[in-house]
Amino acid sequence: MVHIAVFASGAGTNARKILTYFEGSPEVQIGLIVTNRKDALVLRTAEEKGIPALLLDRSSFYDSKTILGVLGKHSIDLIVLAGFLWLIPAYLVKNYNRRIVNIHPALLPKHGGKGMYGHHVHEAVLEEGDKESGITIHLIDEHYDRGQILFQAKCPVEANDTPETLAQRVQQLEHLYYAQIIEQYIKEGNASALFKNQLS
Ligand code: GAR
Repeated sequence: MVHIAVFASGAGTNARKILTYFEGSPEVQIGLIVTNRKDALVLRTAEEKGIPALLLDRSSFYDSKTILGVLGKHSIDLIVLAGFLWLIPAYLVKNYNRRIVNIHPALLPKHGGKGMYGHHVHEAVLEEGDKESGITIHLIDEHYDRGQILFQAKCPVEANDTPETLAQRVQQLEHLYYAQIIEQYIKEGNASALFKNQLS
């Protein structure tokens, strides 16, 4: 069994899709939800689905390594970022090397980096006059949006798009692909013994 922790800061629609996708899976379990916002909707989803949740505060995340203990307690093998907006600290990247996956609502390396999230990304795509946008699913390193790309999917940018209409089109791709690509990455990881801390 591979145990996933889903980190989310916002609406948590991707987190919800991922939870639903793996519900009842004999191979993958969502063992923990982590958020940095006490009003994050993902906390409600966690409660509804009976999944343990952790509310992070900035100082414990960056100045201490208490989260490692929590992740260990829940036997977490893989961290999935689903709209989690804090930079992942180096100690966590090191401990979960190649085991932190992120989704970005544009075609990296374009429109990534600090401050590029949600509507800011779609506004930048429209301002630049790009003809297409999409999603990028990638591994995390210590820099925003720069780790190895696992998957991209594209959609057109229409002439009359607003950040909202473009966001909807991109979100459809996220909901369609993120869980599938996680599942595929886990299969590859199992084959290459990436998840060697599995306890059950
Ligand atoms: C998603 O569109 C995701 O790609 C984006 O946050 C949104 C979260 O939506 N992430 C970033 O912009 C990361 N730089 P959700 O809370 O509804 O899943």
